[in-house]
Amino acid sequence: MLITYTPYLMGGVKFTKKFIAGSIVFQAVEDQVKQVIINLIQNTSDSISEIGGHIILTTDKDEIHLTLTVQDNEQGISEKNIKSLFNPFYTTKGINDSGLGLSIRHGIIKSHGGNITVQSKAGEGSTFPITLPIQGNLSK
Ligand SMILES: Nc1ncnc2c1ncn2[C@@H]1O[C@H](COP(=O)(O)OP(=O)(O)O)[C@@H](O)[C@H]1O
Ligand SMILES: [Mg+2]
Repeated sequence: MLITYTPYLMGGVKFTKKFIAGSIVFQAVEDQVKQVIINLIQNTSDSISEIGGHIILTTDKDEIHLTLTVQDNEQGISEKNIKSLFNPFYTTKGINDSGLGLSIRHGIIKSHGGNITVQSKAGEGSTFPITLPIQGNLSK
């Protein structure tokens, strides 16, 4: 999987990648992992309404795991809402959104033997780190 975004501005939103040098080769169902990343970026974009928004994509790895983090500096999520975040049908976007995004992506990462978490504070943005085993660990 190749992520080739370079820092750029789209409609006032700054997009930065902080990738470790070299490529990370890992075992996964490519379409599924792509979907997860696109969904997280979509969520950050939804939360960004004003000029000054900043999305940061970070990669890191150790011997066993890779970590991919999607971070925004926007509205953040309250402590109360964080608890419901990965529940199916949980949405704050009204009837036009399914609220299924994070629960499905959580399932995908879990089925790869990985983990997805969230750190967020209302008003201060959100960080979603995804950890995946480099050797793959797909459950049937
Ligand atoms: N980056 C983010 N910033 C603020 N809120 C977020 C972010 N990502 C997710 N959320 C909150 O989590 C909810 C659930 O997200 P998701 O499962 O993707 O469903 P949907 O995007 O359809 O609402 C969103 O409605 C939103 O309230
Ligand atoms: Mg979503």
